[in-house]
Amino acid sequence: MKIKFEQKNLFCLPWAQTILGTHLKGKVNFMALGWLTRVNFSPAMLGICVNKNNASHEAIIDTGEFSVNLPSSDMVEITDYVGLVLAKRADKSDLFEVYYGELKSAPLIQSCPLSIECKVTQTVNLPTNSFFIAEIINIYTEDRYLTDGKPDIEKIKPFLLTMPDNRFWPIGNCLGNAWNAGKKIKKIKDAKK
Ligand SMILES: Cc1cc2nc3c(=O)[nH]c(=O)nc-3n(C[C@H](O)[C@H](O)[C@H](O)COP(=O)(O)O)c2cc1C
Repeated sequence: MKIKFEQKNLFCLPWAQTILGTHLKGKVNFMALGWLTRVNFSPAMLGICVNKNNASHEAIIDTGEFSVNLPSSDMVEITDYVGLVLAKRADKSDLFEVYYGELKSAPLIQSCPLSIECKVTQTVNLPTNSFFIAEIINIYTEDRYLTDGKPDIEKIKPFLLTMPDNRFWPIGNCLGNAWNAGKKIKKIKDAKK
C-alpha cells in the first residue's frame, strides 16, 4: 500500500553535490549547491535553483555569471562548510585557490576535478528561489580525470546529496550502460509485433 509522504518541502531526489562560485560585490564567494540540472542540449545549458536569502543569489543577479564546481569525495567537509555559512557571516573568499576562464565573475576552483563557467540567459522568479538558466561557456578538467577523452566518474569521484536525510553518498558500482541496458526487452517486444 502506498502512503502519503508528508515532508514534501524537504524532499528531493539524489543530486550531484556541487559548489557554486560567484562574485559578490567584486569578491569571490562560494556556496554548496545541490539543486542543479541540465536543461538544454544545444547550446549546452544548465539550470540552478538558488534561495533568495543567499548572498550568492544577489551576486548572480548583479553579474549574470557563475561557476559550478564538482568536488570529489575527499572534499565533503569543505563543501558542507560553504553550505553552512552565509557570506554575510563569514568571508569564504580564501577557501579555495581559484582560476578564471572567459568570464570575469565566475571563479573556478582549482582543486575540483571539473568546473563549469556559465552565463545566465533567463531567470525564473519563484516564491522562495530563483531558477537561473545559463549557457555553459566552458568546462575545465584535467587529463587525469579523463578516460578515452571523456570525464571518468571513477576518477572524478563526485558525491550525491539526498534529502530529507541530509546525507552525502559516493557513487556506487556501475549497473549497466544507458541507451543499452533496455535493448534486451526492446528485442523481445519487437519480436512480438
Ligand atoms: C549540502 C547543501 C546543499 C545546498 N544546496 C543548495 C541549493 O541547491 N540552493 C540553495 O539556494 N541553497 C543550497 N544550500 C544552502 C546554501 O549553500 C547556504 O545557505 C549558504 O550558506 C549560502 O551562502 P551565501 O549566503 O554565501 O550565498 C545548500 C546547503 C548545503 C549544506
